[in-house]
Amino acid sequence: MRSNCCGELRTKHINSNVQLCGWVDRCRDHGGVIFIDLRDSSGAIQITVDPDQGSDLFAIAESLRNETVLQVSGTVRSRPPESLNKKIETGDIEVLALSLKILNAVKGTLPFSVSIHDDEIVKEEVRLRHRYLDLRKERMRENLLLRHAVIKAARNFLESKNFLEVETPILTRSTPEGARDYLVPSRVCEEEWFALPQSPQLFKQLLMVGGIERYYQIARCFRDEDLRSDRQPEFTQLDLEMSFMNEEEILSLNEQLIASIWQSAKGIDLKLPFPRITWQEAMDRFGTDRPDIRYGMELINVNNILKGIGFKVFSGAINAGGSVKCITVKNGNKSISNVRIKPGGDIFNEAQNAGAKGLAFIRVRENNEIDTIGAIKDNLSELQKKELLSKTNAEEGDLILFGAGETEIVNKTLDRVRQYLAKELKLIPLENDNQTAWNFLWVTDFPMFKFNSDEKRLESLHHPFCAPNPADLGEQAIWEKTLPEARAQAYDLVLNGLELGGGSLRIHNPDLQLQVLETIGLPLNQAKEQFGFLLDALAMGAPPHGGIAFGLDRIIMLLAGEESIRDTIAFPKTQQARCLVTEAPSSVSKKQLKELHISTSQRENEEISTN
Ligand code: AMO
Repeated sequence: MRSNCCGELRTKHINSNVQLCGWVDRCRDHGGVIFIDLRDSSGAIQITVDPDQGSDLFAIAESLRNETVLQVSGTVRSRPPESLNKKIETGDIEVLALSLKILNAVKGTLPFSVSIHDDEIVKEEVRLRHRYLDLRKERMRENLLLRHAVIKAARNFLESKNFLEVETPILTRSTPEGARDYLVPSRVCEEEWFALPQSPQLFKQLLMVGGIERYYQIARCFRDEDLRSDRQPEFTQLDLEMSFMNEEEILSLNEQLIASIWQSAKGIDLKLPFPRITWQEAMDRFGTDRPDIRYGMELINVNNILKGIGFKVFSGAINAGGSVKCITVKNGNKSISNVRIKPGGDIFNEAQNAGAKGLAFIRVRENNEIDTIGAIKDNLSELQKKELLSKTNAEEGDLILFGAGETEIVNKTLDRVRQYLAKELKLIPLENDNQTAWNFLWVTDFPMFKFNSDEKRLESLHHPFCAPNPADLGEQAIWEKTLPEARAQAYDLVLNGLELGGGSLRIHNPDLQLQVLETIGLPLNQAKEQFGFLLDALAMGAPPHGGIAFGLDRIIMLLAGEESIRDTIAFPKTQQARCLVTEAPSSVSKKQLKELHISTSQRENEEISTN
């Protein structure tokens, strides 16, 4: 149907006869001559329709609407000097049309303009409803090209290291990754359900038991959780698992993988190795397990200095086993008014939304005089004041913001305020080198468990298959005692404060696996019922193994400079987990439900369409 693509034509094609296909990007009538910008996936070219070529041809050109699908035959010629267009790569030439054939017309009105000449901002809902039109635009095309380049780079790298791509089931059993499952009823096994995988975790471990040794997959995962700009109910992991490799070897191989993706997809050289921080240090210094370390304003624990000052909010927090921590905002006296940190203010609101009841502060004035609420000021001795200023590195002009209470809430509060202020005060350095622009960080040594206060039990911080650190574990006889406090051999990769991936060494000893399941409150019979297949496999010669999964959509989002992973996925879901193109999820017929042995209440039955 075509001899060339629109965007590939150059001056070397001058005088060639070509046949092109594409969409009418726009048409302009310039006093008798009609110019059509014809666009295909390779770019756009100007088609000139001259009335001298016949009235039929000209009549077709006059009738064209934007986005009509058109076939054009003509001759490539150079443009007159006054109409050269340096903005597009085909801007030196044009095609003189000899015939035009409409392959498909546009009926009705387009919901938005697709033209390369138009950068009108279209509401996301409209873009998603007509995603097929949105995909014609350069932004989405570029993002999908980048996605392709990233996947290709990952495949090339992993295959050069002897990884084997293996597909794992989509209809499976629930894997405990912490979110709700999407369930699929079985027609043939009455009242039984499949779960869509939250990740291929258990299958990749079974592949290791199966002797695959090095596995990878571009794996679709499904999680029914609250959505944010970096979360989709259906997303893609770059998923890896390796046998006979220790943590050091796994981290090193994975940073090489990331570096090769950045190099191939974007031509960026990353400096290896990536810095590392333990989970404990990250929590102490930044209040989060995915810190953005491109700027300061670190959290400082001032328990020791402030525990005795007789200010109830502080002493109460410390006596109850919590903390008083603070951040120092340099020159904060100038940049931040009291209104903003008192109830109702934007910074106060950030703190409150993180769970804080209040946000105490101190302003450091001339001669290190401090300005704060009486209750703190009246009780702070000269020595304590001196110690506080020295520990917080605060000087004249600075503002110190405090969080006091349960350590978890204090960390959450100050992390949130720190991130908010970094954006507000523009503390994130401009990207003048690769290390600043792409600030990778490994966070290691996560705890195995955290306490779920609603259910009054321990739960896995990552998932219950992470191996504990042998240094914390001791002999089997004391596992029951040592395990709850043990660190996991788990690691996350963080980029500019966003969690890009996470993984761990896995448990390959069935006794230890059972003990971990017991620690999170699964009695033996339930553990065997749910994970018997894993326990059996581990007992049949499972090699030591470990792995990681990266959020592929997040990698592409960051590389593309987008703010939402929705812009990296061809057909994403909305915040309400809907596909606006197909309007899924949708109701189904009673017959279908009956076949699946699903009964619904009377009212629901009435609502279900009978088509
Ligand atoms: P984890 O649950 O940390 O680990 O997931 C790995 C990475 O997947 C990305 N991710 C998501 N991306 C988009 N939308 C979501 N809803 C979503 N949830 C997670 C994140 C995250 O870092 N089986 C383990 C991996 C392992 O241990 O090997 C797992 O799934 O970037």
